[in-house]
Amino acid sequence: MRVLVTGGAGFIGSHIVDALTEAGHEAVVLDALLPSAHEGRGELSSTTVPDVRCLVGDVRDPGTVADALRGVDAVCHQAAMVGLGKDFSDAPAYVSCNDHGTAVLLSGMEAAGVRSLVLAGSMVVYGEGRYVCDEHAEVRPGPRAVSELRAGRFEPPCPECGAALRPGLVGEDAPTDPRNTYATTKLAQEHLAAAWARAAGGRAVSLRYHNVYGPRMPRDTPYAGVASFFRSALARGEAPTVYEDGAQRRDFVHVHDVAAANVAALAAVSGTETDTGTGTGTDTGAGAGTGVGEPGEGGGAGSAAAFAAYNVGSDEPHTIGEMAAALAEAYGGPDPVVTGEFRLGDVRHITASSRRAARELGWRAQIGFAEGMKEFATAQMRASSGR
Ligand SMILES: NC(=O)c1ccc[n+]([C@@H]2O[C@H](COP(=O)([O-])OP(=O)(O)OC[C@H]3O[C@@H](n4cnc5c(N)ncnc54)[C@H](O)[C@@H]3O)[C@@H](O)[C@H]2O)c1
Ligand SMILES: [Zn+2]
Repeated sequence: MRVLVTGGAGFIGSHIVDALTEAGHEAVVLDALLPSAHEGRGELSSTTVPDVRCLVGDVRDPGTVADALRGVDAVCHQAAMVGLGKDFSDAPAYVSCNDHGTAVLLSGMEAAGVRSLVLAGSMVVYGEGRYVCDEHAEVRPGPRAVSELRAGRFEPPCPECGAALRPGLVGEDAPTDPRNTYATTKLAQEHLAAAWARAAGGRAVSLRYHNVYGPRMPRDTPYAGVASFFRSALARGEAPTVYEDGAQRRDFVHVHDVAAANVAALAAVSGTETDTGTGTGTDTGAGAGTGVGEPGEGGGAGSAAAFAAYNVGSDEPHTIGEMAAALAEAYGGPDPVVTGEFRLGDVRHITASSRRAARELGWRAQIGFAEGMKEFATAQMRASSGR
């Protein structure tokens, strides 16, 4: 199958190109080489496969998209502005790249008759993770008050009784609650993909990635994830600085596993998957699977099946403090420093269950935390503008 990988020169996209090529597919790259991600260099240096067709261009440009879609069977849409950005002045750029860009791409796909889409989703659409109060069962804490954070009270309390909460794993059916501009644009991308699937008779899957890390992660940039901050600090000979008290829980998933999830999802949306069900038969996970059904099957229900979301994580939650310590140890120091600083818009705990992806896509993460962090501590990173 020939797959257009938008953002294919980026961190995750370049690994997807590799994985597709290894699986015998043909990848075509469309990437604008955003200066925030590529140090302004006009080259596709991070794509390791030399004979891949690469177009330097923007998904917001209909002519470029039409050109890129020629002869393509499926699209793997990774292109986006990532990270929290500087402040709200970044909002127009995020919405333009991520949502307007997705709309132009989808309308180009409709015109070209390309009906299979895999979207890079994100766990940020959930906002805070799942919490249980002993008294009030499952509750949804709102954004944390600045006064609480300043006082070093980082755990969100039960919104009903103020008691301490137990964090748990979020399923795909949890309500969405994006807490910042980037998260809002990632959720809007999913709604656009679902609308396109219904209107164009297409099939779309959003893979809601957790914190992705691994080789070629951009370094020294406010737009990358926390693993990059820590790794960049270590490379400068500095201690990783851990915000809050370091007990924030996340799920760190290796980029090779994320690339494999994309290959599995592309097979599902394009109807070319082989039967992978037997390898994951022990799953009894909660949450009704929506599956990726035939477009239009069963009327309303079929419309829902034309779009499905899957969490893509390691199912091995760790705290940010543990991650900093594991990286520092594998790198050979210095030890992390916990600062008590905080960022508005950050959530306290977000860890999700990836059992639906195991059950329905036949995918699960293969690279464990200890092994992955050890490799990442010395892995090659990618230069970015560090803007
Ligand atoms: N890295 C993570 O932990 C993580 C987690 C959840 C979701 N995601 C999603 O995964 C996808 C890839 O992220 P990444 O970490 O590889 O980021 P990245 O910045 O390394 O890659 C994104 C690529 O998209 C390109 N791009 C951006 N806007 C474009 C446009 N308008 N037209 C064409 N190309 C454009 C950039 O030049 C870059 O090469 C994004 O959609 C992101 O939202 C990433
Ligand atoms: Zn309570």
